[in-house]
Parts: sequence; C-alpha cells; structure tokens
Amino acid sequence: MKKLVAYFSASGVTERAAELIKKTVSADIFEIMPEEPYKDSDLKWINPLARCNKEKIGKKDIPIAKKVKGMENYGFVFIGFPIWYYGAPNIILSFLKQYDFSGKKIALFATSGGSDIDKTAEKLKPVFGESVQIVGAKRFYADTSREVIAEWARQMTEK
Ligand SMILES: Cc1cc2nc3c(=O)[nH]c(=O)nc-3n(C[C@H](O)[C@H](O)[C@H](O)COP(=O)(O)O)c2cc1C
Repeated sequence: MKKLVAYFSASGVTERAAELIKKTVSADIFEIMPEEPYKDSDLKWINPLARCNKEKIGKKDIPIAKKVKGMENYGFVFIGFPIWYYGAPNIILSFLKQYDFSGKKIALFATSGGSDIDKTAEKLKPVFGESVQIVGAKRFYADTSREVIAEWARQMTEK
C-alpha cells in the first residue's frame, strides 16, 4: 500500500518527526506550506495582534502553497502538525478540505509543549467522513526519542 506523510511544521519539531516516520515506513512526504510562510513574529501568541491569534479568532482558512499529486494513489496517510491552542492549526482543516480521504487509513501525529492530541483527533473525525479509518493518533514532544516515534509508526502501518 502506498503511504504518504503530510505535515505542517512552523518551527521544525513536527518536521523532524515527519522525516523519521517517512524513513521508517518508506513513505512519500509532503510539507503542508502556507502560501505566506510564518515569520517568527507571526507565532508570538503572547501578542494579541500576532498572525497566529488573528487566524485563530477569525477561524481563517489558510491558503496552501501546493497540492499533493495523486492523493488517490495513497492508501495510508500520516498527518502531522503542532498543537496550536489545544487543537490542530487552521491550516490542517484547510488541507483536509482539499482532498477526498474515502477508503484510506489515517494516522494522526502531533508535537506540543504539553497538550495532548486525543480531543483533537475526536474533533477531526467528522471532517474525514465515515469511510475513513483513523487507526491512531499520537502526540510527541520535541525530545521524544527516535525509537519511540519509529516504533509507533511501524505499529500504525500494521493496523
Ligand atoms: C500559535 C501557537 C500555539 C500553541 N499552542 C499550544 C498549545 O495549546 N499546547 C501546547 O502544548 N503547545 C502549544 N504550542 C507549542 C507547539 O505545539 C510546539 O512547540 C510544537 O512542537 C511546535 O511544532 P513545530 O516546530 O513543528 O511548529 C503552540 C505554539 C504556537 C506557535
């Protein structure tokens, strides 16, 4: 079964996990990039006027730079992102809306400073629709070991 790792990462932590998962399960990889890249100042959530806060409050759709070629050919898709405001960043919803995931297996992964992924995974379920099987959802920290991430990825593809 052809596998894809699609991920968004603003500061590189999720990207490292995504690259490792790609290698571990021999997947293709796709970076979900906003048309307008995030600058450091865009991510300063302490500043109420920072881009991240405006997008969150405005529930903004985030234009994405590129599309996955041949999404229909992938049977298994890992989707990774940082936890923002206890959930998935808006760009993930914008990404999910672009594709039909019917019949695919999905594994979600996230990185965060502390927040878990369980509620986020529950919230995303209806976005995927009924014929999509979410086989797992896991949060990693910046210092989660490579072994733990790789072992989780292997387990997911055995489901
Ligand atoms: C706008 C914003 C909101 C965040 N909200 C949370 C949060 O609610 N809970 C949490 O544990 N970490 C939060 N974080 C921290 C990130 O989830 C964490 O640093 C993540 O590993 C960054 O991944 P990245 O380098 O792939 O972007 C937030 C970071 C940003 C920039």
